[in-house]
Amino acid sequence: KPIYVLNGPNLNLLGTRKPEVYGTTTLADIEAAVRTRAAAGGWEVSFHQSNHEGDVVDRIQEARAEGAAIVINPAAFTHYSIAIHDALEAADVPIVEVHISNVHRREEFRHTSFVSLQADAVIAGAGAFGYEMAVDWLLRTLEG
Ligand code: DQA
Repeated sequence: KPIYVLNGPNLNLLGTRKPEVYGTTTLADIEAAVRTRAAAGGWEVSFHQSNHEGDVVDRIQEARAEGAAIVINPAAFTHYSIAIHDALEAADVPIVEVHISNVHRREEFRHTSFVSLQADAVIAGAGAFGYEMAVDWLLRTLEG
C-alpha cells in the first residue's frame, strides 16, 4: 500500500505563485522528491492535487480503504473545511499535515487548522522540504 500525498487548492501553481512565500519549487519537483525519498524506504507514493474539496475527501476515503498513511497539505481548506476534518477523523491512519509556509507567522485566519486536530505530526515553514520531512517521519513511524 502506498503513502498518499494530498494537495489542496492552488498548489498546482507552486513555482510561480508568490515565490517569496512558497519558493520556486514546483509541485512536480515535490512529487519527484517524495517518490525518491519513499522509494529509498521501499514505499510507493500516490500523489494528488485538487482544487475541489470533495476530491480531497474522496482521496482521503481511498487512503482509508487501503489503510494507507497520509501526508496532506490541504492549503486553504486547512482553515475551514469540516468535511476534510471529518474524513481524516474517519480514516484512522497516520496523518502528517504539511504547510510550506509558516502559517503562524502569517494572517490570523491561517492560525486556525481543523486538520491539526486530526494530524499526528504538523510541519510548517520548512518550505517544500517539509514534504520530504513528512515522508521521513512516516517511514520511521510505519517501520516502528
Ligand atoms: C499553505 C498555507 C495556507 O494558508 C494557504 O492557503 C496555502 C498553502 C502552505 O503550504 O503554506 O494555499 O497550506
